[in-house]
Amino acid sequence: ASSPSSIDLRTWVRDIPDFPKPGILFRDLTPLMRDPQGWGEAIRLLALLCDQVQPDLIVGIESRGFIVGTALATTTGVGFVPVRKPGKLPGAVIGVDYSLEYGTDRLEIHSDALAGGQRVLIVDDLLATGGTAAACSELVHAAGGQLCGFGFLAELAALEGRSRLPQEHPIESLIIYS
Ligand code: PRP
Ligand code: ADE
Ligand code: MG
Repeated sequence: ASSPSSIDLRTWVRDIPDFPKPGILFRDLTPLMRDPQGWGEAIRLLALLCDQVQPDLIVGIESRGFIVGTALATTTGVGFVPVRKPGKLPGAVIGVDYSLEYGTDRLEIHSDALAGGQRVLIVDDLLATGGTAAACSELVHAAGGQLCGFGFLAELAALEGRSRLPQEHPIESLIIYS
């Protein structure tokens, strides 16, 4: 989905060993976010995915998915829906339990957020085991939304998260670590 880019986004990723637990190599994307050129290019490339799949709404996953999702929603002129950690959303919610590379958690969405059957692009900063994104796609389905794709800044391919996601729509990652 992405057009060729002369900018290597990996330039702005910082690797931090043993965070947040021993044995985890943390791919820190905050240097990318703080650089206007790098960040602008990342959001531009994800906007090309939006051109392709034409979402009505961007669903972003707390916390780091909010940073990506709100930037992308504003750039592409569509609305943003937060999927949040438990107990944070004020209205009636639908929830799902999930596991991730270094823990387990639960995610929730407002029950009425996608009740019009809107087309949804799910975004997050990083795809690792896929537990988080898979849980989010279950929530989108349960809330009545129509999934049209996934967008990530980075993917840890060795963890095979991609295989845990629904396969019928594009899954785009700007940086893939093998
Ligand atoms: C991180 C990352 C993704 C998820 C990926 O979030 O931002 O959401 O893990 O892991 P997975 O593919 O194995 O599920 P985290 O839960 O650490 O929280 P944060 O976004 O609030 O920092
Ligand atoms: N989320 C899950 N695993 C991660 C990793 N290795 N680096 C950054 N974010 C992550
Ligand atoms: Mg996250």
